[in-house]
Amino acid sequence: MHCYKIDITLMKQVQFIPFLSLCFVFYCPLLVISINPSFNDDVLGLIMFKAGLEDPKGKLSTWNEDDYSPCNWVGVKCDPVNNRVSSLVLDGFSLSGHIDRGLLRLQFLQILSLSRNKFTGTIAPDLLGIGDLQVVDLSENNLSGLIPDEIFQQCWSLRVISFANNNLAGKIPDSLSSCYSLAVVNFSSNQIHGELPSGMWFLRGLQSIDLSNNLLEGEIPEGIQNLIDLRELRLGKNLFTGRIPEHIGDCLLLKLVDFSRNSLSGRLPESMQKLTSCTFLSLQGNSFTGGIPHWIGEMKSLDTLDLSTNRFSGWIPKSIGNLDLLSRLNLSRNQITGNLPELMVNCIKLLTLDISHNHLSGHLPSWIFRMGLQSISLSGNGFSEGNYPSLTSIPVSFHGLQVLDLSSNAFFGQLPSGIGGLGSLQVLNLSTNNISGSIPVSIGDLKSLYNLDLSGNNLNGSVPSEIEGATSLSEMRLQKNFLRGRIPAQIDKCSELIFLNLSHNKLIGSIPSAIANLTNLQDVDFSWNELSGSLPKELTNLSNLFSFNVSHNHLQGELPVGGFFNTISPSSVSGNPLLCGSVVNHSCPSVHPKPIVLNPNSSYSNSGSSLQNNHHKIMLSISVLIAIGAAIFIVIGVVVVTVLNIHVRSSMPLSATPFIFSGGEDYSGSPGNDPNHGKLVMFYGDAEFADGSHNLLNKDSEIGRGGFGVVYCTVLRDGHCVAIKKLTVSTLTKSEEDFEREVKMLGKIKHQNLVALEGYYWTPSLQLLIYEYLARGSLQKLLHDDDSSKNILSWRKRFKIILGIARGLAYLHQMELIHYNLKSTNVFIDCSDEARIGDFGLVRLLPMLDPCVLSSKIQSALGYMAPEFACRTVKITEKCDIYSFGILILEVVTGKRPVEYMEDDVVVLCDKVRSALDDGKVEQCVDENLKGNFAAEEAVPVIKLGLVCASQVPSKRPDMAEVINILELIQCPSEEQEEIQ
Ligand SMILES: *[C@@H]1O[C@H](CO)[C@@H](O)[C@H](O)[C@H]1NC(C)=O
Ligand SMILES: *[C@@H]1O[C@H](CO)[C@@H](O)[C@H](O)[C@H]1NC(C)=O
Ligand SMILES: *[C@@H]1O[C@H](CO)[C@@H](O)[C@H](O)[C@H]1NC(C)=O
Repeated sequence: MHCYKIDITLMKQVQFIPFLSLCFVFYCPLLVISINPSFNDDVLGLIMFKAGLEDPKGKLSTWNEDDYSPCNWVGVKCDPVNNRVSSLVLDGFSLSGHIDRGLLRLQFLQILSLSRNKFTGTIAPDLLGIGDLQVVDLSENNLSGLIPDEIFQQCWSLRVISFANNNLAGKIPDSLSSCYSLAVVNFSSNQIHGELPSGMWFLRGLQSIDLSNNLLEGEIPEGIQNLIDLRELRLGKNLFTGRIPEHIGDCLLLKLVDFSRNSLSGRLPESMQKLTSCTFLSLQGNSFTGGIPHWIGEMKSLDTLDLSTNRFSGWIPKSIGNLDLLSRLNLSRNQITGNLPELMVNCIKLLTLDISHNHLSGHLPSWIFRMGLQSISLSGNGFSEGNYPSLTSIPVSFHGLQVLDLSSNAFFGQLPSGIGGLGSLQVLNLSTNNISGSIPVSIGDLKSLYNLDLSGNNLNGSVPSEIEGATSLSEMRLQKNFLRGRIPAQIDKCSELIFLNLSHNKLIGSIPSAIANLTNLQDVDFSWNELSGSLPKELTNLSNLFSFNVSHNHLQGELPVGGFFNTISPSSVSGNPLLCGSVVNHSCPSVHPKPIVLNPNSSYSNSGSSLQNNHHKIMLSISVLIAIGAAIFIVIGVVVVTVLNIHVRSSMPLSATPFIFSGGEDYSGSPGNDPNHGKLVMFYGDAEFADGSHNLLNKDSEIGRGGFGVVYCTVLRDGHCVAIKKLTVSTLTKSEEDFEREVKMLGKIKHQNLVALEGYYWTPSLQLLIYEYLARGSLQKLLHDDDSSKNILSWRKRFKIILGIARGLAYLHQMELIHYNLKSTNVFIDCSDEARIGDFGLVRLLPMLDPCVLSSKIQSALGYMAPEFACRTVKITEKCDIYSFGILILEVVTGKRPVEYMEDDVVVLCDKVRSALDDGKVEQCVDENLKGNFAAEEAVPVIKLGLVCASQVPSKRPDMAEVINILELIQCPSEEQEEIQ
């Protein structure tokens, strides 16, 4: 008693509640004995209960231990007779903590309801020992552990018990069968396992049993007919096996029967037909077999009948038409055959009809549209519209229909043009049928439509721009049709769109940037269409994107950078050869600084804006000066070389005599046999010249002349033609060993875009290089020879030639060979229109790489020669070839020579093209012989590339690997295919 008083004082003074509870833990036995009867024990119990709780919302703030009575506290009710607490209802108070044993003090408690809180811990075995409990509701908490076996030992008065929606495990205690007053049991949504205790069937007062969503197993015991008061039986979502209890029909008051999602099997017990009060019957998701019983028509009160996902077979009984209160019928996913019985039209209350995924067939019964249904799903059957030309039975003028799913049937014909009349439609799924024709524009009238699936049909025509009217659309699937035309930009009005699949159609045009306004988009699939253009940058605004598939289109340009597109999977963009960006491992032309200089003006931009108007003239004069300077330089070079040659000839008169083959054995012998006769070396096979006595190198067989010598053509003994180059400047050649080493090295260079060196012949006074012979001649001949009957090179061939030259040159550079002398006379075209670069590597036969000598060698290359040749201080690198290549590009595209001499004017090709580009008329530069037959989207960038390659400053020119990348990007894929076919 002493302790008691002290503690109360303490509590009242400092409200040191935890200390108080501690005290109770230790002194409880003492207290029980020492209670002062005048004191309200309920206050103490409730304060103890409160002390063990977290009450974040302060719901229990009225609970004040100074009060003499708790009867006015929130959630508390007292019995007016004895003023003791009879009811504690704290539902949804957000309380957490354990359920404190202080409640045991509430000796007169009848109702304990703590539902929808966050109580944790286990259920105390003596919980039901509290007072006179009749109703215990601990549902929707986080209670765990087992349902204690002892708990039902003192439950004489218990009428309602709910532990629903906790985390309770273990079995249902057998002792439950001793709670004779029990009317309502709800242990649903826990993890309770084991079998159903058969003792339950002795609780005759049971009205409602809900054990659904647990792990209960085994058979449902017989004897349920004892429960004559049973109204609701919910055993769904467990692991029950076996059959439905045979005499369930004797529970005549049953209104609700739910055996869904178990593993029950067999036929339905016939007694069920006695359940004439039953409004809800769900057997969904079991393995019931047999036909749907005809007596189902006896269950006249049925509102909901769900037999879906079982193995029911046979026809739908006509008696189903007796169910005139039926509003939901789900027979989906069975093996039902036949068609819908016409008597169903009597189910006048029917709103939802789902008979999808069965084996129904025949015509779509038109009466189902007259029943005022809200939802019709006939998906996955064999319904067809027979000979009807269109889905005529779909009415277009009634307003109740919300869901229409006719997917995966055999419907054909066209969509009714007035489909927009179905004003309440929310879901329209006609996927996987044979529907043809176009999407009716009235689709835009479906203001409530949020799910549209027309995929997998034969629809053609375009996606109507009227789709903008369907403003509720959140899912749109039109994939796998033959839709053409563009994606309508108006689609951006469908601002709720989350899912959009237009894949596997024939859509063209570009992806409208308006799509970027659809900020809810999560999944977009445009794959396998013929979309072109580039991806709008704005797409990066789509912050909810989860997938964005544009693979297998003709998209080009740079992938958007940022947001989702930084992590987009490569497979979502694959099959678009012209797309570039790091994801596709294809660097973008614009990423390189050089192609940005595609605008050649930029190199002059420091000259200031005041010069802008004049600068093209300035450019022209600079180029002309350079050209003239180079020409002067060359002339000097030629003079020097000529002088040298004269000198050589006068000092070695014998060796300069024309070479005449006198007999095969003469040259094929070993070098030591006769030093005056030379050695012929063929790299592959041992060919001989056909006619030993023939004067091989005569004027008649001359086919060309260049800086390094005269070229003749002859036939070898094995019948194949070769081109023979007689090197002229013999004094400048190296020793025999050096010569052989260099030539052998050149002989190893093989590439489909290079002319192969097949062999050589050497004497001190005469060196011959033997090349494969390309009968069609040089690019220069093909481009500029005035032969009216010649075949004009098509644009496609020209592109191929440019690409071929680029590849050949890139290979040379890779082999660390500078050509120094690239020009149209040195490029040959073989019979498959492949460009082949010749004359490469000859510079290596010269004793030293002197710009002076070089320029003398390339005297005919006026216009191709990089400006740095004129400037002795600049090191000549492979970039000089790139300059020449740039000029070659312009030559091939324009059909004009690099420098053309008019009556009193010199036209420098690259200046002319550059100024045309400035004036925005660059397309006019393309060879007029093509008569406009060229792809401007290729030609213009190719010209720009040519100009960049022909930049004055070597460092501004791209390298050949970049050039090839760019060319491949420029090339239109469709054109490429055309070429293949
Ligand atoms: C349309 O029905 C098919 C099955 O027939 C289904 O796969 C598809 O998901 C449905 N479409 C939508 C949008 O629900
Ligand atoms: C779009 O439809 C195609 C074809 O049916 C399918 O392969 C693809 O997975 C769909 N895309 C998305 C994002 O679901
Ligand atoms: C997005 O919508 C706004 C307002 O309707 C419009 O001004 C804007 O042009 C749209 N953006 C695109 C990319 O179409």
